[in-house]
Amino acid sequence: MPFTANRRFKSTPRLFVGAEGNYYLSSDGRRILDGMAGLWCVNAGHGHPRIREAIKAQVDGLDYVSCFQMAHPDAFTLASRMVGMLPAGLDHVFFSNSGSEAVDTALKIALAYHRQRGEGGRYRLIGRARGYHGMGFGGLSVAGISRHRRDFGPLLPGTAHLPHTLDLARNAFSRGEPDHGIELADDLERLVQIHDASTIAAVIVEPVAGSTGVLPPPKGYLKRLREICDKHGILLIFDEVISGFGRLGASCAAEAFGVIPDMITCAKGLTNGAVPMGATVVGKHIYDAFMTGPESAIELFHGYTYSGHPLACAAGLATLQVYEEEGLFERARTIASHWEQAAHALKGAPHVIDVRNIGLVAAIEFAPRPGGAGQRSAECAEASYQDGVLVRAGADLIVLSPPLTIEPDEIDRLFGSIRKSLNAIA
Ligand SMILES: Cc1ncc(COP(=O)(O)O)c(C=O)c1O
Repeated sequence: MPFTANRRFKSTPRLFVGAEGNYYLSSDGRRILDGMAGLWCVNAGHGHPRIREAIKAQVDGLDYVSCFQMAHPDAFTLASRMVGMLPAGLDHVFFSNSGSEAVDTALKIALAYHRQRGEGGRYRLIGRARGYHGMGFGGLSVAGISRHRRDFGPLLPGTAHLPHTLDLARNAFSRGEPDHGIELADDLERLVQIHDASTIAAVIVEPVAGSTGVLPPPKGYLKRLREICDKHGILLIFDEVISGFGRLGASCAAEAFGVIPDMITCAKGLTNGAVPMGATVVGKHIYDAFMTGPESAIELFHGYTYSGHPLACAAGLATLQVYEEEGLFERARTIASHWEQAAHALKGAPHVIDVRNIGLVAAIEFAPRPGGAGQRSAECAEASYQDGVLVRAGADLIVLSPPLTIEPDEIDRLFGSIRKSLNAIA
C-alpha cells in the first residue's frame, strides 16, 4: 500500500465501501465526513450523478483509443474547456494520468523548450524545500521532503532548491497569505549567481505547498519569483495539482494570485478523482517553440498509452461542467471565511502552535510530544475518525481539504471534532 504502514493496516484495516456527497461509508457501516476530499481531489463531492453518468455512457461508446497519431474529439474539447476556464496565457494542454506524470511532463517540456530555442545549456531544474511534486524521478528530484528522497539514490543531476516559506516565528496563525517572507523569493538570485542563468531551465513551486502542511505563499512572493524568472529567461512552473480547480476559490492559483506562470500542472480535481488524469498546460510561446520544422515531424517525443483516455476525458468534461453549473469555485470563495473562522477558533486549543489556511485548505500544527514526534497528530486523526470525521495526519500536523460542497455545519463539525480529539490526547 502506498505511504502506509502495511503491517499495521492489515491488523487494523480501515476500509470504505461507498461514498456520496461529503461522506464515505465505512465497512463497519458508519458515515464518515470526508475532510480531505478523497486525497485533495473530490472537489465536487463523491459520486456526483452527472460525472457518474458521463463515465458510464463513455464505456458504452468508445472505451479506448490511443492519442498517438490518432485521437478522439473529447480530448480536444476537454483541452479547450480547460483553457477557457484558466487565465489567459495558459493555452495548450498535454494529457497524462497523474500529478506525477504532469510534473515530469512539465520538466521535460522545459528542457526541450530551451533546446528547441538553441539554449540546450539550460538543463538545471530548481524546486523548493518542503515541495511535493509526486513520485516520479523528475518530480522527486525537485521536491524537498527529505524522507521521500532519502532511499532513492542521487535522483536527477543538476537540481537546486529554494528555501521553504514557513516562518512560525513571524507568521504563526496567519490568515491567508502571511505578511512576511517575500524576500525568500530573492534566493533565486543567489542560485543564479552560483549556477549562472544560462544553465537554469525552470523553477517549479506549488503556489500553496500542500502535502508538506499547507504553506500559503507570503504576500508578493509569487510575483517576485515571476519577475526574477523573467529577468533571467527561466521558465516558471506552478504545480497546481492541489490548488487547481476551485481549491482556492478560483480556477487555479495563478488566477487567485494574479501571477501567470509559463506552465501549470494539474490532476486530481480535473476529473473529481473519478478517473485518473493529469495535465500540463503551457503558454503559447512554449507550444509555438515546438511547432517548427517540417509538418510531418513529431514535435515532442513524449507521451503515455493513456494520455487523453476517453474515460478520463468524459469524467473531466462532466466535472468542469459541474464546477461551472453549480458555481463551485465561487462557493469555495464564499464559504472560505467561515472555514477560516472555524479553523482559527482552534488557536489556544491544547498543543496547537499554528493554524494556517487559504481557500478551502487548512493545517493545524502541534508542538511535538517530547520523544514522540508525530504522535499527537496520528492520535488526533484516529480519535476524529472514531468520531466520524476523516482528516489527514502529517508530522505533527492535521491537514484539511474538504469537498467544495461542504456545508457550514459540516465545517463546524470537522473543527469541533479536532478540538474534542485534542482535548482527549496528552
Ligand atoms: C503538488 C502535487 N504535485 C504532484 C502530485 C502527485 O500527484 P499524483 O499522486 O496524482 O501522481 C501531488 C499529489 O498529491 C501534489 O500534491
